[in-house]
Amino acid sequence: MHTLGVLGLGEGRSILSAAHTSKHWRVGGICDLDEALGQAREREFGLACFTTSYDEMLADSNIDTIAIYTPDPWHARHCIAALHAGMNVICTKPLFDGLTEAKAVFEAARASGCRFLVGQSSRWGEPMQRQWQDYTAGKLGEIWTVEAHYHHDHRHYMANSWAKDGIKWIYCGLSHPVDLVRRYLPDIEEVFGYGVQSGASKALGQNGPDVLHFVLKAGSGKIARVSGCYGLPTLVKDAQVMDAVHNRDSLKSIILRGERGSCRADYPDLRYAYNFEDAPSGMLSFESKRDHYYRFGGFSHHAGEFQNYLDTFAAELDGGPTAGPDLCEGIYTVAVLQAMERCLERGAPVKIAEVLGEHGLAERMQPPNP
Ligand SMILES: NC(=O)c1ccc[n+]([C@@H]2O[C@H](COP(=O)([O-])OP(=O)(O)OC[C@H]3O[C@@H](n4cnc5c(N)ncnc54)[C@H](O)[C@@H]3O)[C@@H](O)[C@H]2O)c1
Repeated sequence: MHTLGVLGLGEGRSILSAAHTSKHWRVGGICDLDEALGQAREREFGLACFTTSYDEMLADSNIDTIAIYTPDPWHARHCIAALHAGMNVICTKPLFDGLTEAKAVFEAARASGCRFLVGQSSRWGEPMQRQWQDYTAGKLGEIWTVEAHYHHDHRHYMANSWAKDGIKWIYCGLSHPVDLVRRYLPDIEEVFGYGVQSGASKALGQNGPDVLHFVLKAGSGKIARVSGCYGLPTLVKDAQVMDAVHNRDSLKSIILRGERGSCRADYPDLRYAYNFEDAPSGMLSFESKRDHYYRFGGFSHHAGEFQNYLDTFAAELDGGPTAGPDLCEGIYTVAVLQAMERCLERGAPVKIAEVLGEHGLAERMQPPNP
């Protein structure tokens, strides 16, 4: 049994729910600057371990793992504090919103000997996991291209108090599709794309593009496409997701195209479509697992994905294989995102090695604690 401390209790609610229902975890501490929110989470999960002091939670020797769900710009320093305290870390996506503090986190992880998981929730949806199984079983043959998107009307996010300086959508939004792509094409080498700021985003006082389209090239020459759109309405309405089979679009999708077949995994629809050489084409629905994935109603919190990664991380801590993405994989994904950001400034393709090198990071990073 492992003991979890949760920092940031907005989306942190999902990991609390996951730990609450897990055989492998108990919750030892919860922390937020917002006292009313902390007390509400205590009531919701029958806890009595809320503090507004992160230092106090880190000093609790019963806790072995800290899960971080604070706003993006705070992740690096909250990771470093947890690693200095000798805690394993789960950090939500985006791991960081730039590489400035990446090396310091890497060094802190190496010095601590602790394990590290990036909470890339999208990998852990039922359709995405089924897609990975089919890929590793060889059903697609060699894949040549991957297309992934994450389009979500996030205007409510743009109105958050911490978002007043502008949300970096490349990190906050595209971290999902870029991570999905890198699961299949890990050695993305170069990126190129365009971004534009929508009128809706400007009206909310935001800076920077929220409509983004990019092409990614892997070392092998294979190519991928990712896109994101965060200030405009989507095709999907919450109620329609209940009728997933008839939706014409999903907020998040990943398509793999291989020599022996293609397949597409969707979110929040629990839907997976495939066409393999040695099987009739079809579509699977995992609607029977809706209560596991969307346990707070609607699909605003997708706690089942968090449950899947939390339990897999417990297995890693008990000597099992790396749950992933680990810190190295996470840092490389941030480097891809930073190269995208630079590409918009420069108007030309940018190599990942360039941004890694500038931050003293090796192109082929070895895990700090293999
Ligand atoms: N799919 C996913 O995995 C997913 C989904 C949504 C959000 N997120 C990520 O989770 C993070 C939080 O997003 P959110 O929507 O919950 O935001 P939020 O603003 O609702 O919640 C953040 C919480 O952190 C608290 N906080 C801030 N600084 C703190 C500090 N120093 N000490 C203690 N508490 C502090 C705030 O009081 C707030 O309650 C972001 O990084 C976001 O990108 C991930």
